[in-house]
This record gives sequence, structure tokens and C-alpha cells, in this order.
Amino acid sequence: MTMPRIVRRRSQLHGYGVFAAESISKNTRIIDYAGELVRNSESEEREDRYFVEGHIWVFRVNRVWSRDANVGGNIARFINHSCTPNCYYEIVDKTIWIRAARHIRRGEELTYDYQTIGERSIPCRCRPGCPNKL
Ligand SMILES: C[S@@+](CC[C@H](N)C(=O)[O-])C[C@H]1O[C@@H](n2cnc3c(N)ncnc32)[C@H](O)[C@@H]1O
Ligand SMILES: [Zn+2]
Repeated sequence: MTMPRIVRRRSQLHGYGVFAAESISKNTRIIDYAGELVRNSESEEREDRYFVEGHIWVFRVNRVWSRDANVGGNIARFINHSCTPNCYYEIVDKTIWIRAARHIRRGEELTYDYQTIGERSIPCRCRPGCPNKL
């Protein structure tokens, strides 16, 4: 299976982002969100620590497991959040697939909805005046 080419570069949204280096058709699996598999009981401590540094790296897989992209992560950890995203994630067993929610043109920044709204307190910058928080 060949996955579409994507690149990391500076983003208008925040820090680095990930961009399509070629057009991507709807529902294509773009990349898996890699990271150390840790129990949620342990990941919460890590989340608190990373959050103080201004980062969300831990992705909740299910009621037991999370993936910590700060350890063993790939480029997927630089994908920013948007409330009107062009990607979505699909969890298959303990693998988190980032997939295209629609046709994505070359050069577009990839985004998905982190679905952390309300738990944390970083103001969302996905668009001017976005009222949500990450
Ligand atoms: C998984 S990282 C994404 C990569 C990040 N841009 C970087 O350069 O490290 C998640 C962090 O990016 C920032 N971020 C992502 N999407 C954002 C958004 N829509 N508005 C504001 N900050 C965002 C937040 O600081 C969040 O903790
Ligand atoms: Zn937003």
C-alpha cells in the first residue's frame, strides 16, 4: 500500500503543520498516528506534563490505551486541529489511521478534529474568532 506524500512545514495555524505534497482522494489512508502505547492511567500524567509545555501529544485510543507521539511518533504528530477539518481518524484495533474526509488538493494543510474540546484550555485558531478550545 502506498501512502500519499506529505510534508512538514510552518503553519499559519500553529508551529509546524503537515501539508499534502500531492492531491489525495477522499477516504485515502494518509498516515497512522504513531506513538508509544501506554495505559490511560499512565498517559494522564504525561498529558498534564506536556500540556504545561503547550502541547497535546497523547491520542486516546480506547478506554484502556493511548498513544504518546512524544515517544516514537512520526510526522502525524504535527497535524494541527481544525473545527472544519479535511481529515478524520479511524481507530482499527490500536492503530490510529488519519484519512481524507474529502478530496485534498496539493499544498493544503491537513487537519482533523482532535475532539478534546472543553477538556483543555488552548484557544483554537482554526479560523478568526473560533470560539472553541483545545
Ligand atoms: C499535535 S501538536 C501539532 C503540531 C504543532 N503545530 C507543533 O508545531 O508542535 C498539537 C499542538 O498544536 C497546537 N495546535 C494544533 N491545532 C491548533 C489550533 N487549531 N489552534 C491552536 N493551536 C493548535 C496546540 O498547541 C496543540 O497542543
Ligand atoms: Zn476551531
